[in-house]
Amino acid sequence: MAVLDIFSSGNMDTWWFLTITAIVIVVTKALLSRSKSIPGPWGFPIIGHMSLLGKNPLKKFEYYRAKYGDVYKIQLGVWPTVIINGHDTVRKVLSEQSDSFAARPPFNSFKSIANMKTLTFSYFNQRYLLHRKIGSSVVREYATKHSKKMEEILQDEVDVIVNEFTRQNEKPFNPYKTVMEATGSFIYQFCYGKGENVRDDEDFLQYIKNFSSLEEITKTGNPTDLLPLLETFDPKDMRHAVDLLMSKIIRYKLGDEPNEIGLTKNDVLGVIGDYSGAGFDPSAKAFLWLLLYVAEYPAVQRKIQEEIEKKIGNRRVTASDREQMPWTEATILESMLLAGVSPLGLPHCATKDVFVNGYMIKKGTVVIFNYYSVGHDEQWEDTFEFKPGRFLNSEGKLNKSKIESVLSFSAGRRRCPGAVLARNELFLLLASVLQKCQIRKPQQEEYDLEGIFSTTYYPKPYNICVLSREF
Ligand code: HEM
Repeated sequence: MAVLDIFSSGNMDTWWFLTITAIVIVVTKALLSRSKSIPGPWGFPIIGHMSLLGKNPLKKFEYYRAKYGDVYKIQLGVWPTVIINGHDTVRKVLSEQSDSFAARPPFNSFKSIANMKTLTFSYFNQRYLLHRKIGSSVVREYATKHSKKMEEILQDEVDVIVNEFTRQNEKPFNPYKTVMEATGSFIYQFCYGKGENVRDDEDFLQYIKNFSSLEEITKTGNPTDLLPLLETFDPKDMRHAVDLLMSKIIRYKLGDEPNEIGLTKNDVLGVIGDYSGAGFDPSAKAFLWLLLYVAEYPAVQRKIQEEIEKKIGNRRVTASDREQMPWTEATILESMLLAGVSPLGLPHCATKDVFVNGYMIKKGTVVIFNYYSVGHDEQWEDTFEFKPGRFLNSEGKLNKSKIESVLSFSAGRRRCPGAVLARNELFLLLASVLQKCQIRKPQQEEYDLEGIFSTTYYPKPYNICVLSREF
């Protein structure tokens, strides 16, 4: 009767509304019924696939990709998890559907870190967006506007590295401790200012010694620890990340009580914990990979040194030299491509029901982007060979579109906010060390270029011999 009333009363707007709603329901149902169920391997009940992934899940994921395609699902404990693989699929999803995957899953371990309120381990909402905006702008400003500070710190660290390396008198040694200390010291001084010395910190030295998990490097952004630095804050002199964060707190008028989107002053100061937690280990391991590769490939090393001789000579290397050193940049990119230190990034979580390659991924599903599979995708030639030349065009210049295809820092909403700092750091360390040292593989040693999979993907222990360079 009601429908007839609509016609008889001439209420065509309501009629159209009902018709369109019906069409939307039918089309959505049709789409859902046509959506394929996500393929994936069989796993044990409850524990799922945890025990089947083995020591190096990257190998297992490669096998699953060959069998099931770019999108497949596994069960990680109680969490249904979708793994997204391959250059085209990962890049497309992260660039076109980034918001749909921009949350972190509410794992107990993540919840225990400040109840999902840190920058790295948080839900995706307005609060996160401002937190993130502040966190990224501080790194960017430091690496660009205050790049002199960054260069000075790294120059001191290079002096220590070169001293340690040449002190070995050309005998084989493992560079691990020296590299970990130098990169740890850099991130520490980025956070707290030049001169702060991580080498005096017993917890940090223990961490390096034991390969244990990096829970805390004493100061983890706990605002009470930062008090002495906050007391000497001068808006005209940005000494370190704490000062830059403080300037943002003032700009966004943040206080002890949550603002209208739930952000507090302490949440912002806590970003120091994100920097030291997420910023140290990957950079350290990336530099260890670089030393290994230049020792294994002397011709690549020689080309970097030729570039240094031609463009820099004996003067100190600066961040702006990056622009005129395409071969050095290409070597860093190649190393990130083949041995991306964060091969699975951090887990994401679907923020709504969303389609990828015709498969519906349900809201709340854990999603892992496999960056390692991007680096070893068939779109690159010789995916397991070290060939920095692939990033250069016929004029020897860097090929932009190729660079954009390296997703070691991820892409989209959760892209690593430290990428700009890390890329400068790796460049300054590599170019400065190779300016002063020649790195060689010891005669009796064979290198294994397959890494160890842990929170980062890092090289197995190796030795190098170092000769001083004079030119
Ligand atoms: C070679 C060095 C580095 C690599 C390869 C790397 C890679 C990554 C990757 C893959 C992610 C996860 C992205 C995702 O969830 O999709 C990430 C997140 C993050 N990285 Fe880095 N990173 C490096 C250095 C740094 C540095 C130097 C800093 C800071 C100073 C930093 C700070 C962070 C933070 C705070 C996050 C969490 C971002 C968020 O959840 O919004 N990283 N990084």
